[in-house]
Amino acid sequence: MKLAFLFFCLTLSINSKPLLLASVPQEIPVQEGTRLYFLTSGPEAELKGFTVKAAKNNIDSNVFAYSVPETDGSLSPLTITVNDTLIVTRPEGSTSAVKLYQDRITQSLNVFPVFEKSSIGFKSGKNVFFAVEKPNGKILTIQNLKVDPQNNGYVRGYSGVPGDLIPQPYMFFNSDVYQSVNFYQQLDIPIDEFSMDPVFTGVSYTVSFGQVTTTLQSSGLIMTPNYPLTLDLSDITFNINRVGDESVSLHMNPFFYRDHVYTTFITVNFGFGIQQENSFPSQLDGRMNAAGTMNSVEVRSSGAYAIQYYTNSTSTNALGTTLAGQGTTPSIITTTGSSSFIHTCLSFGVVFVSLLIR
Ligand SMILES: *[C@@H]1O[C@H](CO)[C@@H](O)[C@H](O)[C@H]1NC(C)=O
Ligand SMILES: *[C@@H]1O[C@H](CO)[C@@H](O)[C@H](O)[C@H]1NC(C)=O
Repeated sequence: MKLAFLFFCLTLSINSKPLLLASVPQEIPVQEGTRLYFLTSGPEAELKGFTVKAAKNNIDSNVFAYSVPETDGSLSPLTITVNDTLIVTRPEGSTSAVKLYQDRITQSLNVFPVFEKSSIGFKSGKNVFFAVEKPNGKILTIQNLKVDPQNNGYVRGYSGVPGDLIPQPYMFFNSDVYQSVNFYQQLDIPIDEFSMDPVFTGVSYTVSFGQVTTTLQSSGLIMTPNYPLTLDLSDITFNINRVGDESVSLHMNPFFYRDHVYTTFITVNFGFGIQQENSFPSQLDGRMNAAGTMNSVEVRSSGAYAIQYYTNSTSTNALGTTLAGQGTTPSIITTTGSSSFIHTCLSFGVVFVSLLIR
């Protein structure tokens, strides 16, 4: 079992998937131009005994020297200038988890380990993030994301990092989806590795550990753990903040994993037990626009989803600004339930669903 796991890691290392360094000396072939990043939160004394050698490159160092972030939170890589073999040796008795990530191709790459107390700001370039600690009950988040779609600013987020083979980095967020939204309070990212596209204009954000969203903010992202690969059933109800009896609009844009076939149900709960359920197949881009006196939204799925959303509720707009949404004209409008049900529903709220072929 252990051996199989080790073999799995070694196979992946060749494809530059982060390698979890095991307890035996490991010989890793490295090509000229490769940048190596050591990801760990282990104690200094242990990491100093964790040696890294590459004879042709005159490297005789230790992991500690390469695992301490700069003041901006990013790591300085160990750069290989001639083809070589890297020999990594773990000290006797050490138990620290150390991952090795390597990249040879990506331009302007910034690699950030995320610690429990990290608060990492945006940096120009391709930014990749690795959770190196797992604070109890917390997940990776992006907070206070500012983007200016109307001035060609954009942000795209992917599960996974460049160099992964299975699956390829898989999109979970795209600011282009909502041209009118320029601020997101929180993106939930309950995965261990993710990357953000290089952007240079009008973007800022903070990456840190945070709490899972239970009440929808004015704008944000909710996501299943292990997106996009999970096949677990999930059923989560998110509250919607409203002031008194105000009518709100809610816009949701889900991302699914297209290589798996499954269905996700999004149910909007209006007051007085009135609800409307909408189904989304994983192979189409869905979009949902709902309006009315809604209290909560329930998302049930047998697979993975990441849902980008915004609402116009006045109670959640305290931070930043969200421009008034103009909504998207649905290409297909589907309604479910009997007509009398729909009729009753209309007085409380209305839901439009569109399914678009990507
Ligand atoms: C380094 O290794 C790569 C891949 O094996 C090879 O294509 C390249 O020619 C080698 N470079 C030198 C200078 O030997
Ligand atoms: C939010 O949207 C609802 C439904 O379209 C609308 O009735 C309400 O006036 C909007 N609220 C604000 C603050 O724009």
